[in-house]
Amino acid sequence: MAYTLEQLTDDIRETLNAAPVPAGGEAVCAHVERALKDETFRRENIGPDKTEKRTVIYEDPQLGFCVCVHVYEGAAHTAPHDHGGSWAIYGQAEGTTEMTDWRIVSPADGDKPARVEPVATYKLTPGMAHFYAAEAVHSPSRDHSTKLIRIEGTNLDHVTRMAIEPAEKESA
Ligand SMILES: [Fe+2]
Repeated sequence: MAYTLEQLTDDIRETLNAAPVPAGGEAVCAHVERALKDETFRRENIGPDKTEKRTVIYEDPQLGFCVCVHVYEGAAHTAPHDHGGSWAIYGQAEGTTEMTDWRIVSPADGDKPARVEPVATYKLTPGMAHFYAAEAVHSPSRDHSTKLIRIEGTNLDHVTRMAIEPAEKESA
């Protein structure tokens, strides 16, 4: 049976009401993976008509989470970042994202950015969703264009992010 945006957002709301993040994070990922693999969902929400870098396709009036479509053209290597206190799920719809998780070795202090070092690098391929808790520092990298469904705990257009720098830069 086809899966719709309305069903996805109903499922996310139900999951979060029963188990707020981080506990409910993996269950929300499962809903996102179901959507990513559903032909109808893909056609209706992440088809070729989606060309904007970022489109917020749903924002929940009760819980504040939102569903976004991100379209990234060409190769890019993004610096380590967090999401300013909001959790997020990266759901890979097209292409491959190589993600690195980072550990904070010294927190941000006044004008000094937080220092981080890499912990793990892994690939997100089409159909996979990954949960990032509010303070999780990560850096996506891609060699080619990608398309993602991203769920944000709070619309990230409205949050301020921590300044972060790789620790190895310090000794250079
Ligand atoms: Fe991110």
